[in-house]
Amino acid sequence: MYQLTNVTQSYNGREVLSVPELAIGRGEILGVIGPSGAGKSTLLRLLNFLEYPTTGHLRFDGQPVTAALPLAQRRRVTMLFQRPVLFNRSVVANLGLGLALRGRELPPATAEQWLARLGLAELANHAAPTLSAGEAQRLALGRALLAQPDVLLLDEPTANLDPANVAAIEQLIQELQAEQGLTVVLVTHNLFQARRLAHRCGLLWGGKLLETAATEQFFTNPQKSETAAFVSGRLVY
Ligand SMILES: Nc1ncnc2c1ncn2[C@@H]1O[C@H](COP(=O)(O)OP(=O)(O)O)[C@@H](O)[C@H]1O
Ligand SMILES: [Mg+2]
Repeated sequence: MYQLTNVTQSYNGREVLSVPELAIGRGEILGVIGPSGAGKSTLLRLLNFLEYPTTGHLRFDGQPVTAALPLAQRRRVTMLFQRPVLFNRSVVANLGLGLALRGRELPPATAEQWLARLGLAELANHAAPTLSAGEAQRLALGRALLAQPDVLLLDEPTANLDPANVAAIEQLIQELQAEQGLTVVLVTHNLFQARRLAHRCGLLWGGKLLETAATEQFFTNPQKSETAAFVSGRLVY
């Protein structure tokens, strides 16, 4: 789905991200872990076409990513942030917003199914700003996926949530990823979450993508000393 070759990103001449080579396969869940400031969100901004690499090449489904990337391609990618952006309207109105932006309506029966699935059926007509953090994040996830993207980018999606909501969000991500064949890039400093969800994991360290490996190998037999230190919890992050 993505191909990065010698990609770097610099701000004011300071390089904050360097990815010599990374291919993200269709339908895979890639976990990207690393300490705060490692460049995780910067990587997601590139994958979400919000910024373009300072140097190197980024391709999305074979097409070079530039400012000229067509809207139809951009809409194949959606992002969920740590704190969801909800509008001061009802829960069900917020749920339909992703579709509305694409000029489509949310059929009431579909809304009902999704609200039930998200555990929000009782709250359909409540104002979105009254939701708890966990409810808000479930709503944002549903809204993102109703638009049927091919790629879901997750930036610390459960960092603010209690364990019950973390479990609910993780389960939804797993189920929906499998059902829709989504490509998922999960950025987190939660090692356990990456281990639970990701098929493959990568370590970002000081802006460098140091190692990527199948999740089991990444955690049990890492090749780089930094990865070993990070996954064993020897480093504080
Ligand atoms: N728009 C920006 N302008 C200048 N520096 C930035 C900008 N965005 C991020 N940075 C810097 O880039 C580095 C990586 O940031 P970020 O990708 O947010 O890391 P992470 O998400 O892993 O915590 C940090 O040092 C941060 O201060
Ligand atoms: Mg970040």
